[in-house]
Amino acid sequence: MLILGIETSCDDTAASVVADGSEVLSSVVSSQDDIHSLYGGIVPELASRRHIEAIIPVVEEALKRAGADIDKDVDAIAVTRGPGLVGSILIGLNFAKSVSYAKKKPLVSVNHLEAHPLAVFLKDADNKGQGQPEFPFVALVVSGGHTALLKVSGFNEYSVLGQTRDDAAGEAFDKVAKLLGLGYPGGVAIDRLAKRGDAASIRFKRPLIKKGNLEFSFSGLKTAVLTHLKGLGKGSLEESELINIAASFQEAAVDVLVTKAFWALEQTGSNSLVAAGGVACNSRLRARLAERAESESVGLFIPPPCYCSDNAAMVALLGYHLLKEGAGEGLDLNASPEFLS
Ligand code: KG4
Ligand code: ZN
Repeated sequence: MLILGIETSCDDTAASVVADGSEVLSSVVSSQDDIHSLYGGIVPELASRRHIEAIIPVVEEALKRAGADIDKDVDAIAVTRGPGLVGSILIGLNFAKSVSYAKKKPLVSVNHLEAHPLAVFLKDADNKGQGQPEFPFVALVVSGGHTALLKVSGFNEYSVLGQTRDDAAGEAFDKVAKLLGLGYPGGVAIDRLAKRGDAASIRFKRPLIKKGNLEFSFSGLKTAVLTHLKGLGKGSLEESELINIAASFQEAAVDVLVTKAFWALEQTGSNSLVAAGGVACNSRLRARLAERAESESVGLFIPPPCYCSDNAAMVALLGYHLLKEGAGEGLDLNASPEFLS
């Protein structure tokens, strides 16, 4: 069964063709970093306009790379309906509805947040699978738009254990990168600089680190970096200061994410942890999760970077499982920009 997945919830226009719910035949992502980097963050109106320009070529490219004919080969269409930027979601959603109507293909909608951790089940030519977590597992979903801990009990069965009260982890990386003059998106730049810095040089406060609390808050951490910069009282930073701030900020953010992910395992009694979302590409987060998982005999599963960040293969995968359970949408399907639980 071939599913065409479509994802436009934030600033990436993505399409993918997935066979039998896990084999990725193509995964195309068109990033908009070039325009948003001019503003140091995502400008929703510009994101929607770019999706309009990109959606047809991206879908055509995904079908071409998969060698799939939309009429003959594609069995159904899966699309993200939220959470995300409403203008962005509507482009993918309305495109998917049009294709479903014109080509008479079943349509199913998925929750982007639920799809992220399920990316561990994807396989392709480079990634034959890395062992698969057993349900129920704990998922740490960390991206530019979300930070949440989920208990995932099945392909369409999850509950939210905790989420951020304010900024997402990736948003904090991006905002701190902006304060440090590193450009947008800044997570990768901080990750790279932090490797040369001393993570213990500045002790930024770890927010909401009260035993058992699975909620997150990252806006205070960003403000703490700003306060530190103001305290230095100078316009430009020396290289040693820059790398130490990057490393210390990253350590504080990673500390909170790792600590809470393991509290979630303790609370749910689960022995498998999945990390997903763009911030799960962070090298320090991956290393700290791996260390802890090994010492506590926890199974750790992290998709390769191309399926950690936003992609449509995870949407097609979840769509496949929802269709198997009999889900499906009509043309009255609407966007759900808020968190769907
Ligand atoms: O999942 P994603 O591609 O899109 C959203 O749904 O937001 O995540 C993008 C976020 C950005 O905030 C970016 O700075 C962050 O992931 N990111 C990283 C790294 N790579 C991407 N953050 C920290 N370290 C990285 N290596
Ligand atoms: Zn995402």
